[in-house]
Amino acid sequence: MAITIAQLKTFLAVAQNGSIKGAASKLMVTQPSVSSGIAALEKELKIKLVERKGRGITLTAAGHAFVPYASGSLGVLEEGQMAAREAADPEHRELRIAAVTTAGEYVIAPIIQAFRNRNPQVEIRLEVSNRTSVMHKVELREADVGIGGRPPESGKFEGMPFLDNPLVIIAAPDDPLVERPVTFKELESAMWLLREKGSGTRSFTENLLVDKGIRPSRMTIGSNGAIKQAVRAGLGISLQSRQAVALELGLGVLSQLDLKDSLPGRKWFALYPKESPKRQTVKTFLKFLKSDVAMEAIADSLAMPFKGLKS
Ligand code: PGA
Repeated sequence: MAITIAQLKTFLAVAQNGSIKGAASKLMVTQPSVSSGIAALEKELKIKLVERKGRGITLTAAGHAFVPYASGSLGVLEEGQMAAREAADPEHRELRIAAVTTAGEYVIAPIIQAFRNRNPQVEIRLEVSNRTSVMHKVELREADVGIGGRPPESGKFEGMPFLDNPLVIIAAPDDPLVERPVTFKELESAMWLLREKGSGTRSFTENLLVDKGIRPSRMTIGSNGAIKQAVRAGLGISLQSRQAVALELGLGVLSQLDLKDSLPGRKWFALYPKESPKRQTVKTFLKFLKSDVAMEAIADSLAMPFKGLKS
């Protein structure tokens, strides 16, 4: 097979832009060279990957199926290039972390800070998005390590648990539900505020509601911050990572429900593709995540949610 890197990049640019023109301007090449790159790839694979639709181009079913492989191959090569560069010049290293929103906002910063103190030569890039997007980035090798909940069942990922992720259900401090211990059945009449589709917290909550056999009203609110404000305003209740609401619980602007039935335990995991070679920098970071230094950094930040506040 004589598929070239240029053909794969051209195909992915067309897939992302939905037009030959858009792909050409992204790649800074002419439109005919995009068309001929796609034609050559189709000839090589002996299958149609794209088709015209109105003024644009859409992927055929075969094209959609090919996207993750094209993207994954480029990702592996990029990673190989990084590994080679790092072996030749260990002073310049890179680490691409993709964290789910909750971990990115409330958990990972002190760990990165402690890691940077010990590895100042590593250039770190942190991207924060919801679980679906993080898993996508890890699968396509756009990130070296994902930080999120349990790895999906697909078998494509490995996960290394490194920290507990205790959960709470939050309510406004003046909500009558906070006055006494409550059962899940009693929470059926409350409005549950859920994160956007693709969020790990949302899918965990949805599964929990099914497990507990309750079908409350639900409202989607697309960020942890917006959910906290909505709960404060009395719009409803929400299941959140305790780490995400430590500050507000400490300040007393949100309250935690006292549940008669306990919530399942969760953990934070480092996630990476199964059976893929890991660069030395990635191995160093994974080892660091399990270290006492990392645990102390996170414990300090959780124990001192008021650090930096003026009295
Ligand atoms: P989320 O992920 O921030 O996308 O909800 C959190 C989790 O997976 O627990």
